[in-house]
Amino acid sequence: MTFGPSCNVSQVDLSHHLSSEARMRKPNPMKEIWKLTRRKPNMVSLANGDPHFSLYPMRRIEYEMASIEEADPVAAWRKAGPSAASTKLVSSTYEPCALPLQTGLQYSHGAGLPDCQRVVTELTKFYHNPPDHVCTLALGNSDGIAKCFRLLGERGDYFLADEFSFSSITNVPLAQGIKWAGVKMDDGGMIPEDLENVLANWDTARGRRPHVLYIVPCGQNPTGSTLSVERRKQIYEISQRFDLMIIEDDPYYFLQYDSLSASTTDFSTPFVPSLLSMDTDGRVLRVDSFSKIMAPGMRLGWITSSALFHTHLVSYTDASTHHPHGFGQMLITELLSGPKGWQIEGFDRWVRSLRAEYHRRRALFLTLFEREVAPTGLARAAVPEAGMFVWIRIALERHPRLRGDLRRVPGGDRAGPRTNCAALMEELFERCLDAGLVIMPASIFALPVDAKDADVEDPVEDRLNYLRATFAGTEEAMEQGLAILGQTLREFFADEQQEMELA
Ligand SMILES: Cc1ncc(COP(=O)(O)O)c(C=O)c1O
Repeated sequence: MTFGPSCNVSQVDLSHHLSSEARMRKPNPMKEIWKLTRRKPNMVSLANGDPHFSLYPMRRIEYEMASIEEADPVAAWRKAGPSAASTKLVSSTYEPCALPLQTGLQYSHGAGLPDCQRVVTELTKFYHNPPDHVCTLALGNSDGIAKCFRLLGERGDYFLADEFSFSSITNVPLAQGIKWAGVKMDDGGMIPEDLENVLANWDTARGRRPHVLYIVPCGQNPTGSTLSVERRKQIYEISQRFDLMIIEDDPYYFLQYDSLSASTTDFSTPFVPSLLSMDTDGRVLRVDSFSKIMAPGMRLGWITSSALFHTHLVSYTDASTHHPHGFGQMLITELLSGPKGWQIEGFDRWVRSLRAEYHRRRALFLTLFEREVAPTGLARAAVPEAGMFVWIRIALERHPRLRGDLRRVPGGDRAGPRTNCAALMEELFERCLDAGLVIMPASIFALPVDAKDADVEDPVEDRLNYLRATFAGTEEAMEQGLAILGQTLREFFADEQQEMELA
């Protein structure tokens, strides 16, 4: 893995995946000149309008961070609240620190501040050790992925994704003229055989065969599923055979859990190898985020890619957001490499302790589910191996108003849904709201596909009988929310039974 871009002859030439927009974009000429000011020490610059640091109205930032000296640092930090042991880090103009304010708050390179880029590179090497890749800072995964879409997507292209996917991301490239082709899933996430099937049987009358796969390998949002190592290898091999670029969106990588029967997730349990770690070709653009392991409002993450795509990402960043804010980059640099920072070993202790905390939350959620919802016999929860979400299947087949004959209705649309599943789930969602519970309906995660591309044999509208719930919130929210869900389900199914009996 390299820090700056360099060409590696062992990687495959994947430049044909670049969009015409990416090819047409010219590097920002100001940034090119800016780089020259670093050609040798003590260069005199009359070039850039860089405000001098003595005019910044701040000279010191102190961050009070959790101590990682405790055996279970997250539990200690959470339980002791304001009196929990902490460590103070400083970014300063005049005091010793890893990334002084005068550098951290100045204009910088599109890849990010070099010191921060270096520490996230080391972090990536520690966990994934990819063959030959470069890191580019981004404003979290949403920003990183949106940039990857722009880098790879041509109007009229099809991209591939799980048929239930995170709509905040899958809606993004629609305005760019990208269409989605869905891949079927089961409890283990994307089914490699279906991915192969979609690609092998692609009808080019629809458009060129998809060349980009968007995938969330751990704790997929919304289903909570995690790809096994075997599936990852299969998906990578299929991507090589069909020449796919992979956007690996992995914000839940660090939240991988031991089985439910274990009382907690062992700190020493290894993380499942990422697609990036297998990427000999340079076809994976992996997107990481501090949102789920530090704080979402930090808006900081990074993309790890081959040098070719890194160069284009930097070009796009220099023409759009510019590198992420210095505040977050200074904090991360101080945390991972500063004199009082956690360093990578401390960060590793924190994330392993964090997943033990989420393991406890998952266990609590599922215990409450068993108490409040399962006894109704009207819903079943899938046990997630990672992430923050539980995918709840509603037993709509037991609902007295479920119909399965919509296509037989005179004038009914042959290509439409067979059932009224979508309408019933909408009603259940409204009833939950009325009872004071907001829970995510599956409908908002159904991959947005054109009507002409819809699965006629197995329409998604007939498979919307799921809800997504999270165990990221408070214990009270889980307790109250699941009690409301259980009660609402009982009423939703029982009311209708009574109505049927009266009719
Ligand atoms: C699968 C997935 N990707 C991306 C994001 C957004 O991450 P970020 O906050 O880094 O933009 C989320 C957040 O919920 C997510 O679940």
